[in-house]
Amino acid sequence: MCGIVGYVGDRQAQDILVNGLEKLEYRGYDSAGLAVFDEGKIDYQKKKGRIQQLKEVLDEKPLAGSVGIGHTRWATHGEPSDVNAHPHVSSDEKIAVVHNGIIENYMELKDKLIKEGYEFQSDTDTEVVAHLLDSYYDGDIFEAAKKTAKDLKGSYSLGIMSSDDPDKLIAIRKNSPLIIGMGENENFIASDVPAILEHTRNIYYLDNDEIAVLTKDSVDFYDEDGNSIEKKETVITWDPEDAEKGGYPYFMLKEINEQPKAIEDTLIGRITEDGIKLDDVIITKEDLDKIDHVHIVACGTAYNAGLLGKAFIEKYARIPIEIETASEYRYKDPIITENTLLIVLSQSGETADTLAAIDIAKKAGARVLAITNVVGSSVAREADDILYTNAGPEIAVASTKAYVTQVACMLLIALHLAKLKGLLSEEDQKRIAESLLNSPKQIEEALEASEEIEEFAYENKDLHDVYLIGRGLDYDSCIEGSLKIKEISYVHSESFSAGELKHGPIALVEDGTVLLVVATQDKTFDKLLSNILEVRSRGAKVLAIAQEKHRDALEKAGVEKVFCITDLEDDIAPIPAVVYLQLFAYYLAVARGCDVDKPKNLAKSVTVE
Ligand code: F6R
Repeated sequence: MCGIVGYVGDRQAQDILVNGLEKLEYRGYDSAGLAVFDEGKIDYQKKKGRIQQLKEVLDEKPLAGSVGIGHTRWATHGEPSDVNAHPHVSSDEKIAVVHNGIIENYMELKDKLIKEGYEFQSDTDTEVVAHLLDSYYDGDIFEAAKKTAKDLKGSYSLGIMSSDDPDKLIAIRKNSPLIIGMGENENFIASDVPAILEHTRNIYYLDNDEIAVLTKDSVDFYDEDGNSIEKKETVITWDPEDAEKGGYPYFMLKEINEQPKAIEDTLIGRITEDGIKLDDVIITKEDLDKIDHVHIVACGTAYNAGLLGKAFIEKYARIPIEIETASEYRYKDPIITENTLLIVLSQSGETADTLAAIDIAKKAGARVLAITNVVGSSVAREADDILYTNAGPEIAVASTKAYVTQVACMLLIALHLAKLKGLLSEEDQKRIAESLLNSPKQIEEALEASEEIEEFAYENKDLHDVYLIGRGLDYDSCIEGSLKIKEISYVHSESFSAGELKHGPIALVEDGTVLLVVATQDKTFDKLLSNILEVRSRGAKVLAIAQEKHRDALEKAGVEKVFCITDLEDDIAPIPAVVYLQLFAYYLAVARGCDVDKPKNLAKSVTVE
């Protein structure tokens, strides 16, 4: 995820900014840069790669000056490169800007600015902000910033400086975190506390549509119309290590809690007034007509998201799907022709088996559509069509926010293909899109249940096995939940399709067996209820995730814990439902004293076979 640091004070800005960026390295990034004001002008340096590479450039040509902004970039628009790195500057280099987030309407703004004569150097959405600021600038950078913010749609936190106003920094926030740090004769902006914790613990959190104007001895806050506002200071008491995790004990819990925002970022610009819009998926109706079979291939959690993808595509676009793990696919001699579409999912974009599958498919002439989280990754470079999940970097080994965003992407693709085939009614499109947009709220509901799930996990921490059952999409959620439990708590866990219980697995159920039931799908609820009664009568302890209207029935069936999702569209349910399972896996692992972020024997990116 991108990082922002800004400094205005008496000290040399360069080292403070570089040091702040290093404190944000844990968030992941692919390039870094700084802009510092000195002797009447803004100087800047930016470099693809690690901060170390930027430091080498700065060693040769240091940036002197005591006002500046710095940035680490996690690419979303345009691959990692020197030119796409931040800061971005106006053509006369009098205004510099760093940005976190995604400007949803950047294409529209870019077209308008090009017509006005602006020339663009980069592929980023951020550069429009630099030129827009310039287009509104008539001697007052605060006014220009205010007007610019009104034109921007999407999520952004911005750090802005102008060489005409050299003692000032401007910070603006909308849907992307930004904080202001107050020091003695110096003030700071940052996207996250660790960047400035060494200098100050006195923080102001900017809220949406707020603007801060900083000089070395003042910080003033304004609303979007420029009216002065008061804000409350927060004193940070965490130690630096906790601060990296945003106060959470583990990255995994932080990332679980980031899921509402991750989904929002996945959907930005893709659900428009004209329906689903996937810019980088360039399959046309003619292309699709030629495709006679579709394969979905991935590993682990990404494969589990693919299972839901199969269900969505088959349901909406009526295209039969074959799904396979990449490690099997590559050695199975799969039937691939020029008329095959291969859909791959990979958070890292670097998984060896997934890359091998792409290689085989491309050699046989197939078209490749990739869902990945990493811009410029090997998977992204190999694919013909790409859909980025925009989840931000995932640090914990166990994948959480990447999974829910992959599921959302799979649904978007299914709707897109259905639309191309003329199978999606306006009404269905609108209903599902609205429901997807509502899913962050349902995830929040799940997050609110954290304490209760924690209690249940602690009560049952000595269990030997945990089973998950569901039907249809719920069964797919169980498969992912079971993987989470295994990998971080080391408890044996299996998922069964509930209808299969009586064909064998029910023999495992005895007094005290813990069963997690996902029962969100209306059409199979009654069947699942019978399965619950069957396992209850054999003494199982049951935790269920279901719709509010089924609460009573579940409680009457003796279910110990019932968690309900409200305003549910069945196809969207896997997104909030899995969050309850992630939380259970997390708290079970914590209760058993496991190192949640670094489970034994596992690596984040599996670049070997
Ligand atoms: C599990 C997990 C793994 C990955 C798998 C694929 O929590 O993270 O199962 O999903 O190794 O990795 P990517 O998505 O990077 O291809």
